[in-house]
Amino acid sequence: MAITVEGNLFYVNTEASSLILENRDGDLLLKHFGRKINSYHFSNTIHEKDHAFSGNPSPEVRTYSYDTQRQVIGTYGFGDFRKPSVRVQHGSNELTFFKLVDYHIVKELIEAEGLPNPHSDEQAQTLVLVLEDQVAQLRLTLYYTAFETSATITSFAKLTNLSDEPVVVHRLLSSMLDVPAKQYDVITLQGAYAREKAVRRQNLHQGVFSISSSRGASGHGQTPALLLADRKASEDFGDVIALQLLYSGNFQAFAQENQLQEVRLGIGINDDNFAWQLAPSESFVTPVAMLSYSHKGLTGLTSESQAFIKNHIIPKRFADEERPILINNWEATYFDFNKDKLLSLADEASALGMELFVLDDGWFGNRFDDNRALGDWTVNESKLGGPLSELIADVHAKGLKFGLWVEPEMISEASDLYRAHPDWAIQAPCRGHTYSRNQLMLNLANPDVVAYLKETFDGILAQNAIDYIKWDYNRNMTNLGNGATYLETQMQSHAYMLGFYDLVSYLTETYPDVLFESCSGGGGRNDLGVMRYFPQVWASDNTDAIARLPIQYGSTFLYPTISMGSHVSAVPNHQMGRITPLETRGHVAMMGNFGYELDLTQMTETEKAIVAEQVAHYKRIRPLVQFGQQYRLLNPEENTNEAAVQFVYEDQSVVTYVRIQSTIETIETTLKLKGLDEDAIYRLDGTEKCYSGAELMYAGLTLDMPNGDYLSKQFYFVKDVKD
Ligand code: DGJ
Repeated sequence: MAITVEGNLFYVNTEASSLILENRDGDLLLKHFGRKINSYHFSNTIHEKDHAFSGNPSPEVRTYSYDTQRQVIGTYGFGDFRKPSVRVQHGSNELTFFKLVDYHIVKELIEAEGLPNPHSDEQAQTLVLVLEDQVAQLRLTLYYTAFETSATITSFAKLTNLSDEPVVVHRLLSSMLDVPAKQYDVITLQGAYAREKAVRRQNLHQGVFSISSSRGASGHGQTPALLLADRKASEDFGDVIALQLLYSGNFQAFAQENQLQEVRLGIGINDDNFAWQLAPSESFVTPVAMLSYSHKGLTGLTSESQAFIKNHIIPKRFADEERPILINNWEATYFDFNKDKLLSLADEASALGMELFVLDDGWFGNRFDDNRALGDWTVNESKLGGPLSELIADVHAKGLKFGLWVEPEMISEASDLYRAHPDWAIQAPCRGHTYSRNQLMLNLANPDVVAYLKETFDGILAQNAIDYIKWDYNRNMTNLGNGATYLETQMQSHAYMLGFYDLVSYLTETYPDVLFESCSGGGGRNDLGVMRYFPQVWASDNTDAIARLPIQYGSTFLYPTISMGSHVSAVPNHQMGRITPLETRGHVAMMGNFGYELDLTQMTETEKAIVAEQVAHYKRIRPLVQFGQQYRLLNPEENTNEAAVQFVYEDQSVVTYVRIQSTIETIETTLKLKGLDEDAIYRLDGTEKCYSGAELMYAGLTLDMPNGDYLSKQFYFVKDVKD
C-alpha cells in the first residue's frame, strides 16, 4: 500500500488495486482505477481530438474538452455535459470550476465528521487533494484512503464556503469515477419488503442507469451499492468495480454511458429534496464511499467487499466474535405473551442448546398491538410479571443471554410521548400526518429529541443486564416540513441521519459489549451506515426457507455472512404460507447467524430432537459460516430450482444444497466445490467417505436427492489428518 506522487501523477495504491490521477494544469484527470499499476506512462490515454459539440476551455486548444476527459469531479457548466458531482448555488448561478491548488499525504485515516467511517487499527494513508474555484470562492477537498491489507479505497468530499455570503449545496457526491469505453453490465441489489436484495444484472447502454432512495432510509427496494462489471465477467473471472456508500439515508448511485461509450459512475446523497446551506467558512462533508475492484469476477469482488466490511466497518468488538444462536419470541407469540409464556420458551431454548433469548415487541407501555405506545419506553410490569431486571435474571439463570427489541426513532400518536411533545414528530404545518403501521417518526434533526433518546435508552441499558438489542425501524419519512425556512426543511433528511449517527454512536460506544442487530421490517435499512454501529442485520421478515434463498444470496453478495441474521420459523410459514421440512429450514438458516423464531413449546419430541441436533451441528460449523470464505455454487436467481453455497475455513468446508421442486428422469446435479486443497483428502463428516480436494473441485460431487419438494442436503467435509 502506498500513496505516492510522481511528477504530475498521484498513485493511490492498495495491495491489488490502483487509482491514478493526473494533475494537468490544475485539472484533476482520472487515468486509471482498477488492477494495480506501480508505474504508469499514459499507455491508455484519450487521444485528444476535436470532438464536435464538446466545448474547449481555451481557444488555442480545440482538442481538450471536459466533455471527453475522465475525471473524479464533474465540473458544472463548462462543457462537461455528463452528470455533475457538484452543484452549488452561489450568487446568481451554479457554475463551478475547481482547480487543484494543494495536496498532502497523511499517514492515517481521515474521518468524515459526524458520519460512519471505516476504522483502521493498521496503517492507512490518505491523499488529500485541495481544489478551489476562485470565482465562486469555494474549496472542494477530496479524500482518498488506502488501507494496508485491502484492495479497497475509501473516499469522501468536503465543500467549504470561502466567500462572505451564504451558499447552498444542492449536490455533492461522495465519489465519482469516469471509466473507459467498453461493454459493461451494471449489478445492483434491489427488491421489495420480504424479498430484499435481489441481485439484478443488466446491460448498460447509452443513457443513465440509476438507483436511489428518497425514503429517509436505504429501503427494502435498493441498496447503496452499484457494481460495474465487464460484460464478460462471470462468477470467477473478469473485471468488476463496486461503489458502495456508508450511509443509511437518501442516496443515489448511477452509471452514465455517454455518446463516446465512456462511463461515469457516481454515488452519494440523493439530491432530490436536498439542500444544505453553508454560511461563510462553513463546510459540508459527504458520507464515505467504498471503491472496490477485483479482476477475479464476482466471487473476487464479494470476497474483497466482505473482508473490507468485516475488517473495517463492523464494530471491532464483534468482527471476530461468534454470534449466539437465538430464540426470538416474535413469531411465537406476537404481542400475546406473559412472563410464564416467555420463561417456558426460554426453558425449551436452553434445553435445546440455544444461547440467547430475545424479547421482541410488546414489553413496554400500553403496547398490546402495533397501533400505539411507541415512545413510551417504560416496562409494562403487569405483562412481564415484575421489573425487566427480574425477567432478565430468570433468563440468565437458564444459561441464556438476554436480548430486547426497541424502536427508538418512532412515536405513536396514541402515546404519552406524543401527548407531551407532538412537535417532535416529523411533520409540515397544516398538513396532518401520513401514517405507516399507524406510527410517526421522531425528528432526529432536532437535538432535543436525540438528547431525550440518549437519556431514555441509556437508562434502559444502564439499569438492565441486556446482552443484545434488536433496533427496529418500521416506516419511512414523509411530510418533511419541520424547518422554520424552506432551506432548513431541505436539510432535514440529512440532519436526521446526523442525529441518528450521533445517537447510535453514543449508545454503542457507551455499551460496547451489547450486540446490536439492525432491523427495518427485515432488511429495510440493511446498509453499511448501520453496519458501522450494528454488527448484524435481520435480513428479511420473510422467514420462508425457499423465499430466503435469493434474499440470503443477495444479502451476502457484498456484506459478510456474519452480518446476516437468519432464523427457522414455523410452518405453514407466516409470510408465504408454504410448508417446508424442518431440516430444510435449518439448513437454510444455518447459512447465516442462526436462530429460531417459533413456539418451541408447541413442538413434538421428534421435532425437538431435530432442533437439538441442528443447534449442536451449527455450533460445529459456526466458524466456517461466520468467518469462512464463501463461494456461491448455484445462484438461486439463475437456477430457479436449486441453490448451493459453500464455506471454506481452515481445514474444513460445508456445502448447503437446496432443491425446490422434485424432478424426474433427470441426471442429478453435480456441484464443483471451490477453495479446497487439491492434494488433501476430505472426509465427509459422519461417514467413512473420503474424497480428494482435486476430485471435489474438478470432477465435482454428484447429489443423490430423494423424491419430494423443498429438500436440502448439507455436506460437512473435514480434512483427513494422517497419523
Ligand atoms: C418488524 C420486524 O421485522 C419483526 O421481526 C418484529 O420485530 C416486528 N417488527 C415487531 O413489531
